[in-house]
Amino acid sequence: MEIPTVQLVSGDAMPRVGMGMWKVAPDACARVVHDAVDVGYRHFDCACDYANEEAVGHAMGAAIDAGQCDRSDLWITSKLWNTYHAREHVRPACERSLRDLGLDYLDLYLIHFPIAQRYVPFETRYPPEWLYDPEADSPKIELSRSPLHETWSAMEELVRDGLVRNIGVCNFGTSQLRDLLASAEIAPAVLQVETHPHLTQEKLLRFCNEEQIAYTAFSPLGALSYFSLGMAEEGEAVVESDVIRNVAKRVERTPAQIVLRWGLQRGTAIIPKSENRVRMAENLAIFDFELTQAEMDSISDLNRDRRFNDPGDFCEAAFNTFCPIYE
Ligand SMILES: NC(=O)c1ccc[n+]([C@@H]2O[C@H](COP(=O)([O-])OP(=O)(O)OC[C@H]3O[C@@H](n4cnc5c(N)ncnc54)[C@H](OP(=O)(O)O)[C@@H]3O)[C@@H](O)[C@H]2O)c1
Repeated sequence: MEIPTVQLVSGDAMPRVGMGMWKVAPDACARVVHDAVDVGYRHFDCACDYANEEAVGHAMGAAIDAGQCDRSDLWITSKLWNTYHAREHVRPACERSLRDLGLDYLDLYLIHFPIAQRYVPFETRYPPEWLYDPEADSPKIELSRSPLHETWSAMEELVRDGLVRNIGVCNFGTSQLRDLLASAEIAPAVLQVETHPHLTQEKLLRFCNEEQIAYTAFSPLGALSYFSLGMAEEGEAVVESDVIRNVAKRVERTPAQIVLRWGLQRGTAIIPKSENRVRMAENLAIFDFELTQAEMDSISDLNRDRRFNDPGDFCEAAFNTFCPIYE
């Protein structure tokens, strides 16, 4: 299956549909990666913080050894965790992800959040997650004053030294991107942010298009990822809206396929996660139909600026620390 690609500033071609690996338990990774490669996925969206890179690495190694794919066919993304923003921690963090994933280079390495947390040594805890000391009497997130331009220049070193092919950021807004573009020697190739019909991010997407920053939509299915975390309310599933259901009926596809096709057709890359082989295949079967402009517009009109993954909310609710980033 030919998956459409987006050309990054480096000239590399990133597949526009990838498999999200957040919340995939380590003991499920062998099957999930095997099935995903088998149904046609070549792009895997990983992160230190997903606590499964070693298992993903084993599974990818097995897929390559079994002749399912070559390393050069794969697009592997990982992300720098918040505790490693200081210049001297960026390279060791990247090397740890490379080792766990069993790779000698990453196709893309992203700063996971514009949040610098206090360093936690590898031997103390890996991945370190959000709390500085989970055993403390009143555990909290502890921040550090590491400037983003320093983190970025250490990310640039990774490109120069051949550890990663492309670098980018997640969860940044236009002001942070503009600032980064002003000081960067290597411009960010990709912005990865939450985007779905309830959070269309029109201005951010337009800004990225104008600046030649490829745009990847995370949580492209909207609320679905957040029900199990108690971060979405009943009735918030965009796949259940009448607009989506009606379009699905016309093109004889599933509501999830309509939402993903909308993401693709407006020019973004999408990284839906599924552990179910049937849904994995369903999420890839979106290249052979088209939504009309009126359908595209009616889906975009579902926008409510509803962000499910907001540190300004979940850091306080789950980690007893107020940590807004978008305001
Ligand atoms: N950079 C960041 O800060 C950040 C934040 C969040 C996510 N991400 C990345 O983006 C990826 C995708 O986002 P996400 O995992 O939050 O959400 P998502 O991909 O939008 O949704 C995943 C949820 O939808 C279900 N699902 C998948 N396909 C379906 C279908 N065809 N029909 C019905 N249900 C379906 C999945 O269940 P099953 O598994 O049971 O199918 C799962 O519960 C993540 O895995 C991660 O790699 C990045």
